[in-house]
Amino acid sequence: MRISVIGAGYVGLTTAACLAQIGHDVFCGESDEKKLSTLQACVMPIFEPHLQRIVKNACSAERLRFGSTEQAIGWGDAIFICVGTPPLANGDADLSALEAVARMIAKQASGYRLVVEKSTVPVQTGAQLRKHLSVHSTNGLKYDVASNPEFLREGSSIEDFLHPDRIVIGVDSPRPEKILREIYQPIVDQRFDCPVHTSCPRHSRPTFLVVETASAELIKHASNSFLAMKISFINMVANLCEAVGADVTEVATGMGLDPRIGPAFLRPGIGFGGFCFPKDVQAFIRIAEKSGCDFSLLREVEKINQDRIGRFIEKLRGEVWVMRGKKIAVWGLAFKPNTDDVRFAPSIALIRALLDEGATVSAYDPQATEKSKLVLPNISYCENPYEAAEGSDAVLIVTEWEQFRDMDWRRLKSIMARPLILDGRNMLESKQVTSCGFRYVSIGRDLVLPPQNGLSANEVHYRSAALQKSWSDSSVVSLD
Ligand SMILES: NC(=O)c1ccc[n+]([C@@H]2O[C@H](COP(=O)([O-])OP(=O)(O)OC[C@H]3O[C@@H](n4cnc5c(N)ncnc54)[C@H](O)[C@@H]3O)[C@@H](O)[C@H]2O)c1
Repeated sequence: MRISVIGAGYVGLTTAACLAQIGHDVFCGESDEKKLSTLQACVMPIFEPHLQRIVKNACSAERLRFGSTEQAIGWGDAIFICVGTPPLANGDADLSALEAVARMIAKQASGYRLVVEKSTVPVQTGAQLRKHLSVHSTNGLKYDVASNPEFLREGSSIEDFLHPDRIVIGVDSPRPEKILREIYQPIVDQRFDCPVHTSCPRHSRPTFLVVETASAELIKHASNSFLAMKISFINMVANLCEAVGADVTEVATGMGLDPRIGPAFLRPGIGFGGFCFPKDVQAFIRIAEKSGCDFSLLREVEKINQDRIGRFIEKLRGEVWVMRGKKIAVWGLAFKPNTDDVRFAPSIALIRALLDEGATVSAYDPQATEKSKLVLPNISYCENPYEAAEGSDAVLIVTEWEQFRDMDWRRLKSIMARPLILDGRNMLESKQVTSCGFRYVSIGRDLVLPPQNGLSANEVHYRSAALQKSWSDSSVVSLD
């Protein structure tokens, strides 16, 4: 089928590449001219595993091409809108890019088109789109509007798109359902040439869920808000573990064994970021508010998340005491591993706070350096993690890139001013680094005594270590 994809970002480019891979004839339209010329030269403007190869092959086979939005609108029987929906100052989703595309479709397209909202949008956007298309249509356009929320995760977007758990479509009549079934049939049947796995393991068929448009729109926001809630929940459990001397990894393991809870998203850390969770939680709160529903539960989720950075800095301060003049190494800038995306990444707020307190920061990320330079121009960017750590008073692990798991710890210790690691993602085992002479601080696994008891940071840690040791020895120790 001839398909148009509007917007060549993380979602649009993945959608275009994967729909071409499963046999459709795709035109991807992009309004950013710099991005467009990069794509036309077959260079990827974003980092996403497998993407470059798939795009290159699809372009050579003439199943994928890139051009202007106008050209893309003229191409497809189905038009997937994948433009950004960033947050406005009041938390609402900014739908101006989506509205602009809808207006262009209304003015230019003729005949029948299925307009598919793939961008994450507030409930009722489909209804607005229908109205907008009808008000602005000048060429006798006949259309349906469908919602098809996207659940891919950056860093594994191709795999997620081609091997999803579910495909959700929101339609209000049979015709769009039929078209979307036809588009997704190869994925539903898992019958396509898999570009990710050399011998593709058998994947179960994804559920093809057909619901009302408004329900599909809500499924996306509700899913992301629920996942964000799970992260904030385990982060609060981590705080509690620090207060009582329990180990959050053990607690999360015990919780996750319950199939009603499940182990995913029970990993504590310095908080969620990225282009989805923070803005989708905000938008969902606003949607509820405007609909007269008090969803203050999600305000707590947000608040807990916002407190993560301050709490992490408090741990650092407890170790290095005065921040001014200290050199801090930051490992990881992307909001998660395997992507170059730094939008709403915890690293940004963290680094800004460190700079505000007079520390200098040297950072390393395998993919996100170029994008970080645009938002954080005043730090040193390094070629590798050792260079970043050279002469530093602490290494902060902010993104759990696999390579940080397996470092030459003795070499690292020899080049740092002080052998101190703060692991904001709990990716290391304490024994692994403490046996090499590091002081290792993580999340929810070290007892943190409240500051008002008058103990110095050293005393707190000495006593904390003593208390934890005593618990592991099953004996009792008094702190008084
Ligand atoms: N990034 C994710 O992991 C993810 C996952 C699921 C859903 N989503 C949702 O998908 C949507 C897109 O997210 P993204 O991360 O791909 O954003 P993005 O910013 O990476 O991509 C959006 C692209 O649309 C282009 N664009 C804007 N107006 C245009 C126009 N008129 N014509 C053509 N192109 C235009 C922009 O230049 C940009 O390249 C958002 O609503 C987001 O919430 C994102």
